[in-house]
Amino acid sequence: MDRPFIAGSPAEARKFFRENARSDRGVGLVPTMGFLHEGHLSLVRRAREENAICVVSIFVNPLQFGPSEDLGAYPRDMKRDLGLLSGEGVDMVYAPSPEVMYLPDRSVLVTENSLSRCLCGASRPGHFDGVCTVVMKLFSAISPDRAYFGQKDYQQLQVIKRMARDLDLAVEIVGCPIIREPDGLAMSSRNIYLGKEERREVLALSRSLDVAESMVKNGEIISETILREVRRVISSSPLVALEYAEIRDAEDLSPVETIDGCAVCALAARVGRARLIDNRVLERRES
Ligand code: PAJ
Repeated sequence: MDRPFIAGSPAEARKFFRENARSDRGVGLVPTMGFLHEGHLSLVRRAREENAICVVSIFVNPLQFGPSEDLGAYPRDMKRDLGLLSGEGVDMVYAPSPEVMYLPDRSVLVTENSLSRCLCGASRPGHFDGVCTVVMKLFSAISPDRAYFGQKDYQQLQVIKRMARDLDLAVEIVGCPIIREPDGLAMSSRNIYLGKEERREVLALSRSLDVAESMVKNGEIISETILREVRRVISSSPLVALEYAEIRDAEDLSPVETIDGCAVCALAARVGRARLIDNRVLERRES
């Protein structure tokens, strides 16, 4: 099993590409903050399959955490992550330190001004500026042909797609399905924060999305009617404090009163120390 090449700076990443010529099958990048689970690994496998060279970045990005958020507590285990990635046949791990990523007098930020204002952007000011800026820097260091993002972070995926479109980036943004635990909980590095009771009650989130999905399958198209049920299911779990439950257009994230084409039901909730998100794409069936 070959260990991946570990690059700690853009210069080291470029050195790797000088020594390992890019072929027509291209370079695939999977940006992560580490503490990897099967959700991350599903993106890695897809990138591995679709590209000649597979790069995974591991960087807990301080710029996307608010002052009262969990930057210090965010779980980290580089040794375990590297073991998992070498098992997946990853060619390069890009893992710069915060000091290499961000110079003290840096003064450029990448801001998306529309899709990132709602949902998580409303309660996490500056979060998507941090995400766009770091992803742009990862793209600069690696120059991927394709970059892989999970639909778990649905808003993030749409914001990055918009950034790539508006900045004419020569990278294809590939969205990948949500990987769940057998009981339905969407995998997340933050699930480790959940206590035993919280772990049981958090299932209300995915169950509420199952309810939304089956309502749409049965012909319900009024967003508010669906959201009422979603909120009712979640309120039966007192340890789950819902931050928002909304139905929005699947692409531009504008609010939709009725489900005509493709919409997304997106949730965020606090469960103990964890702030968790989940979503389900809802498609009206043509009758
Ligand atoms: P992180 O939370 O580590 O997630 C890295 C990637 O894995 C994201 O694209 C995320 O959507 C995907 N992912 C996480 N859980 C998943 C699951 N259960 N199923 C499928 N995909 C899943 O998202 C970030 O890091 C950061 O914001 C980042 C993009 C790296 C920028 O810092």
